[in-house]
Amino acid sequence: MSIKIGVIEGDGVGPEVVSWGVSTLEAVSRDSGLEFEFVKAPVGGSTYLETGKVLPEESLAILRGCAAVLKGPMGRPDIEAGVVERDGILALRQIFEQYVNIRPVKLFRGLEAASPLKDALLERGVDFVIIRENSEGLYARMGGMTATTATDINLFTERGVRRILEFAFDIAKKRGKKLVSVDKANVLSGSLYWRRMFEAMAKSHPEITCSSQLVDSFCILVLQDPSPRKWDVVVTDNMFGDIISDEAAAIVGSLGMSPSANFNPGGLSMYEPVHGSAPDIAGQGIANPLATILACAMMMRYTFDREDLAVKIEKAVQKALDEGFRTKDICAGEPHCSTEVMGEAVLKYLH
Ligand code: IPM
Ligand code: MN
Repeated sequence: MSIKIGVIEGDGVGPEVVSWGVSTLEAVSRDSGLEFEFVKAPVGGSTYLETGKVLPEESLAILRGCAAVLKGPMGRPDIEAGVVERDGILALRQIFEQYVNIRPVKLFRGLEAASPLKDALLERGVDFVIIRENSEGLYARMGGMTATTATDINLFTERGVRRILEFAFDIAKKRGKKLVSVDKANVLSGSLYWRRMFEAMAKSHPEITCSSQLVDSFCILVLQDPSPRKWDVVVTDNMFGDIISDEAAAIVGSLGMSPSANFNPGGLSMYEPVHGSAPDIAGQGIANPLATILACAMMMRYTFDREDLAVKIEKAVQKALDEGFRTKDICAGEPHCSTEVMGEAVLKYLH
């Protein structure tokens, strides 16, 4: 029986990169015992201009019938900022209760020159994962605006904090048994609540080395030493997770190398690149498809429990980089290749 994968192409470079994600999934499913059926679900800015809805009911119905979703970036400069984010991306995360956002931060071999950090800081490699709370905090959409005041409530619930921390402890157990919680407990009550719960839970996980770090300090420390000596699993709230995952993406060379999973452990999860729709380069065929391809590896790992297929995709990406293929965002001087050439290179090594 075939497995339905929902495909949201998104806006800007979305369709260009998502098509390589679909090809990757097709390639990796061969001889794997998995058979995928891809169903398109229009969501985003272009969908809004065509139908008047960012997330039409029909698309939602399609997604409800899927085992996983591959999502492209969305947003258009000709639509007021915030509309697509609120009614598209954030709505999907809420509707499907994707309360975990998993963001791996890994420096691929050969990309040292694309990182703004000095070589010496990268010698030990970079390989950690950010577990970002994905349903509350400043993203709870509580608050409002008058002519003279605007408020955003930073929501921390017992259920919300507990479930994300439990998830992070679980990942830490499976990885290097080192967990850092990032907060701003010296100022924010939500953060203090979070830190107290983290410290209480740390006591029942003596096998894991736990520590807390203030977010401003984290931002410096990760630049001074991004190595596995310091970071393995980092857990943080929604807003801080948004910010530090972009900083971390720069460290490993580009947002074009950074995949992400909006994860619901018992439900429908959605895999996407961390980068945006990049309207400035849309249609030029130069976007980096690797973040989307790596998001497909995450889909194999987290939704289908197929570590073998996830590793296969990640190895093919490494092989393409080893062979010297570089899109513009990661090329640091050398002549760069197109989206298509990079996509084909990965597919070649998958076969
Ligand atoms: C991300 C994005 C989104 C976020 C935006 C587009 C709503 O920046 O996935 O990191 O803030 O979560
Ligand atoms: Mn972001």
